[in-house]
Amino acid sequence: MVPLKRRKVCGAVSGRETTVKFPHVVIYLLERKMGASRRAFLSQLGRKNGFRVEDDFSDNVTHVISENNSGDEARTWLDLQQKGNVTVKLLDICWYTESMRLGCPVEILDKHKLQEGQKFQEESVEFSVPVEFSVPSYACQRRTSLENHNTNFTDALSLLAENAELNNEDGRAVAFQRAAAVLKALPVKVTSMTQLQGLPCLGQHSQRVIKDIIENGVSSEVESTINSERFKALKLLTGIFGVGAKTADRWFREGIQNLTQLENSGHDLNRAQQAGLEHYYDLNQPVTKAEAEIIGDIVKKAVHDVLPGSEITLTGGFRRGKISGHDVDFLITHPDEGKEVGLMAKVVSWLTAQGLLLYQKTTRNSYLENEEGPAQPPSNIDRFERCLSIFKLEKKEMHSIRLHPGTQSSDREPAIIEHLQHFQANSFSNSQMRPNRTWRAVRVDLVVSPISQFAFAVLGWTGSKLFERELRRWAGQVKSMSLSSHALYDSKQCKYLRATSEEEIFAHLGLEFIPPKERNA
Ligand code: UTP
Ligand code: MN
Repeated sequence: MVPLKRRKVCGAVSGRETTVKFPHVVIYLLERKMGASRRAFLSQLGRKNGFRVEDDFSDNVTHVISENNSGDEARTWLDLQQKGNVTVKLLDICWYTESMRLGCPVEILDKHKLQEGQKFQEESVEFSVPVEFSVPSYACQRRTSLENHNTNFTDALSLLAENAELNNEDGRAVAFQRAAAVLKALPVKVTSMTQLQGLPCLGQHSQRVIKDIIENGVSSEVESTINSERFKALKLLTGIFGVGAKTADRWFREGIQNLTQLENSGHDLNRAQQAGLEHYYDLNQPVTKAEAEIIGDIVKKAVHDVLPGSEITLTGGFRRGKISGHDVDFLITHPDEGKEVGLMAKVVSWLTAQGLLLYQKTTRNSYLENEEGPAQPPSNIDRFERCLSIFKLEKKEMHSIRLHPGTQSSDREPAIIEHLQHFQANSFSNSQMRPNRTWRAVRVDLVVSPISQFAFAVLGWTGSKLFERELRRWAGQVKSMSLSSHALYDSKQCKYLRATSEEEIFAHLGLEFIPPKERNA
């Protein structure tokens, strides 16, 4: 028996007594290969969660947890303890971390048991564990539906990507996004690091974050990012339409951390930023699919009125099957090449006359096909005639939806949920929320494409952003081609490859066709 005095210490965490919730499960963590400091950390974590974790081995112990030992090594160690308890369970650390995550001792499955009678080769562990998933390395080679089994990891990695973007560290941001995209493509929830063996795009940093979440339920880096004044302020300021990371950073360095400070700072805001500030609340509320459809009907009416025969296509996240988005994206074309010229100005006049636009800025088409192929490196920015606008949408019976609808919030890291809710609750003043108003502001992007470029434009505007980036990277690195939302150029054959459908473009690129709903990388 463990002496009474010591048992008491076992239940104490930094001076606080914690209740033992599962008295029949008595855990002993094997220090061998785990190390003393990790053992101490894991013991404390267990006790905090109501588990009974013993410092010393005794006959009371029911579960021995080992990390990096083979079944035979653990059995040899156990035999040396010369205790009479033969029913003690020899388990891998994955049982312990899973139980921590779920807050109760999980059912013991084969995967949790240490395999005895098998030699454990530590050095060749990568080869001794079968690779669980096979994932191609470019996101455009794989199918990524909206069903994400790993939101706990992908939320964390996306948040770190966002932070890197805000800090102007684009390389790092893309690395986190690629790692998140790999996890989004997995068919099941990841519960142990060994499942990740052989997966592409998981750099050391991303692996650290994932490991942290597997073991502790949260990532300490995510927690400190969420709590940093800089991240909070930059997120709030870049939430203003028309304000990018650079501007937000400059304001933050001037001591501006919130909207009131910005309004009082005397800064001259441009037209977009003024509109962004005025409609801050609305523009930070998700746009629903129902709202997108109503706007689609309005745009269709406008376009057909000013140029019969024109075609409009809903692109962006809604085409990928999302049920909400930050804006609504439309692509407009006409089957007779050239007829689309001048169309945008007429559409904008029509919408303005109906009082439907709160803000708009139209840029002209500046795309010119260069005989010698696109500039090197090809520009990611397309040059279509484009109208960035804010629509005034009558609310009628519409209900705006809450944060991230359709996802299981139980899977999300509590700190991230709290951060998002805090962001919602504290960013808006009552005057901006204007609950009695009969309309809301919605960001809408209108793009006009000549029919000859339409397939490229649809592909380029459907996203996701990472999927597009990966398509261009694949084209350049694997096929020596250059892809944009206007055209595909083959640098080996020195010619443009024409296409009238997305399927043809995938075929030119030597890729299996991925339908829009599976481009949610
Ligand atoms: P969005 O930023 O609208 O993203 O760009 P989204 O996927 O629709 O997501 P939410 O729901 O609005 O947040 C849509 C697509 O348009 C392309 C992007 O690459 C993205 O794939 N795009 C966007 C451009 O090609 N050029 C731009 O200037 C903006
Ligand atoms: Mn969009």
